[in-house]
Amino acid sequence: MCGIVGAVAQRDVVDILVEGLRRLEYRGYDSAGVAVVNSSGNLQRLRRLGKVKELADAVAAQPVPGGTGIAHTRWATHGEPSERNAHPHVSGKITVVHNGIIENHGPLRDALKAKGYVFNSDTDTEVIAHLVEEELKTAGSLLAAVQKAVKQFSGAYGTVLMDKTDPSHLVVARSGSPLVIGFGIGENFIASDQLALLPVTRRFMFLEEGDVAEITRHSVTVYDKNGQQVERAITESNASYDAGDKGQYRHFMLKEIYEQPSAINNTLEGRLSSDSVLDETFGNGAAELFQKVKHVQIVACGTSYHSGMVARYWLESLGGISCNVEIASEFRYRKSFVQPNSLLVSISQSGETADTLAALRMAKEAGYIGSLTICNVAGSSLVRESDLAFMTRAGAEIGVASTKAFTTQLVGLAMLTLAIGKYNGLTAAQQQDMVTALKSLPAKLEETLKLASSIETLAEEFADKHHSLFLGRGDQYPIAMEGALKLKEISYIHAEAYAAGELKHGPLALIDADMPIIVVAPNNELLEKLQSNVEEVRARGGILYVFADIDAHFKSDATQRVVNVPHVHPLIAPIIYTIPLQLLSYYVAIIKGTDVDQPRNLAKSVTVE
Ligand code: M6R
Repeated sequence: MCGIVGAVAQRDVVDILVEGLRRLEYRGYDSAGVAVVNSSGNLQRLRRLGKVKELADAVAAQPVPGGTGIAHTRWATHGEPSERNAHPHVSGKITVVHNGIIENHGPLRDALKAKGYVFNSDTDTEVIAHLVEEELKTAGSLLAAVQKAVKQFSGAYGTVLMDKTDPSHLVVARSGSPLVIGFGIGENFIASDQLALLPVTRRFMFLEEGDVAEITRHSVTVYDKNGQQVERAITESNASYDAGDKGQYRHFMLKEIYEQPSAINNTLEGRLSSDSVLDETFGNGAAELFQKVKHVQIVACGTSYHSGMVARYWLESLGGISCNVEIASEFRYRKSFVQPNSLLVSISQSGETADTLAALRMAKEAGYIGSLTICNVAGSSLVRESDLAFMTRAGAEIGVASTKAFTTQLVGLAMLTLAIGKYNGLTAAQQQDMVTALKSLPAKLEETLKLASSIETLAEEFADKHHSLFLGRGDQYPIAMEGALKLKEISYIHAEAYAAGELKHGPLALIDADMPIIVVAPNNELLEKLQSNVEEVRARGGILYVFADIDAHFKSDATQRVVNVPHVHPLIAPIIYTIPLQLLSYYVAIIKGTDVDQPRNLAKSVTVE
C-alpha cells in the first residue's frame, strides 16, 4: 500500500528518498512523487504515474537539490491513479504526504472550499494540506497547526508535512497508519516502514497511536494524543533488506518459495527441545497464560486467515482446546460472545493489516485474558500492541503473494498447539511425535521443491483456462483455499476452493472439461472420502490435477494428472501440500505473463480497511 519516506539533512536528500521508495515498491502502488525544499525555501515537486523508476528517471533528468524532503508511493483509494492525484500535495506553504484514509474528507473539503481553497486533486489527502495551511494562519507553528488539524480528522493517517518557508523541520502524525523515525548523525528520517531507511540508519523509534512529532536535523520531539511531550524508545534494528537481490531467481515469489526450508529452519531454531516446545518460545509470561487458556479466538486476513483455519484443526484435535477463526474485517464489526479464559491470537505477515489491528484493539476491551500475535515483522504495530509475540523469522517477504510467511506461520501455530496442548491432555509421547515431525520439515520441503519441473509442465494446461476449483478435506481444506487464493492473485484465473464433501451441494454443476479441478490428497483418515469425491468429478467429465501421497494410489490417465508428493507425518502435511500449489500458481502466472511480484490492484501491506 502507500509508502512514505522523509528526511531532514544537510546534504541533498532526493536520492535517499527515491531509494527509500524503491524499497517500499513491494507494498504495491500506482504512482510516486517527491518534494524537496532547499535552504532558500525553493520547493521542487516531481510526480509520476507508474513505477518509481519513472520518478527516478525524472529526478535524474532534472536535479532536485535540497536537504528537506518527503516522498510517497500511492495506492489509489480516493481518485484514480494519475499524476494529479499522486502525492505530495501542496497548499500554499504546506506540502504533505499521507497514508490511510481521511473518512470525513467530504465535509472538510466543503468547509475549505467555502473559505476559498481550490482543490487540484480528487484525493482525501488534499484536505490535510489545506486544513494545515488554514490552521497555520493562527497556530504560530507547523507543529501547533498539525496538532489542531488532526483533531478534526476521522479515519486513518500516517502523514508528514513540510513548510517550505521553514525547511529546518518536518512534522509527522500517526493514527492508524504506521510511521517510524530513523536517527542519523546530524540528520533524521521518517518512513512508513523501517526497510526504506536501512541504507541510512539502524536506529529507529516507532510512533504510537495519536503521536505527533517534530523532526529536525538534531532533534526529535514527540507529543502524545493529549499533546503531552513523551519519550518513545529507540531500538537498534537487525532487519535485513533482501529486495535488491533476487539472486538466481526470476521473481521474488520464486526466491521466497525456495527459501522455505531455511525460513522454517530459522523459525524452529532454539524453540524446541527433543520432546517439547520450550517455555520461552512465546515470551515472558506465556506459560502462566497458556495454563489458564480455555478457548482460542484467531483473527487474520487473506493468507494469514488460512493458516488460522489450519490451526483450528490442530488446536481442537491435538491441543485439546476449542478454537474459532474469523476474518478480521468481519470480527471487528460483530458483537461476539467471548468465552471464559479466551486467548486472542492475531496472525499477520506485516503486523500492520488495518482490520487485524483493529480486531486486536477491539478484543482488548472485550475481556480476553491475553493476546498473542504470530507475526513476521519485528516492531510492527501488532507485535507492539499484543501481550505476547511469536516472530516467524521468515525474513523480508517482498512478493505480494505470501508464501514463506504462510508456512512459517503454520510452524508457529503447530508450536502453539504444543505449548497449549501440554496443559490440556497432549501426552508426552504425542508431543515428542509432533516435535520429530516439525524437525523433519526442512528436509521434506527440499524434497517437495524437486517437484517444480513436473509442475511447470502441468501449468501449461492451465494457461487458457478461466476458472478452476480446488478441493481438500479436513486440514487440507484451508490449503485448497490458499492454493485458490494464490492462483487468482497472480494469474488472474478465477479460482474457488471447496471442502470436497460440499461438491454435490452445488459446485458439481460447474464441472466440465474446461474447469480444471485441483485436489490435495495426503494419505490420511479422510482419503477414502476424498477418493469418492474425486470419482464424482471423473464421472462428470472433469479434468483432475491431484497432488497425492504416493501411498494414496491415484493413477494418471486421460482425465487425471497425478503428482506424487513425499510421504510425510500428518501434522506437517498442510505445510508440505502448500508447496506444489504455490509452484503451480507461479508457473501458470509465468505462462500468462502477469506481474508475479506486484499483481494488479493488490498491495503487500493492507493498511486501510
Ligand atoms: O500482512 P498480513 O498477513 O496481515 O496480510 C494479510 C493479507 O493481506 C495477505 O495475506 C494477502 O492475502 C496475501 N497477499 C495473499 O498472498
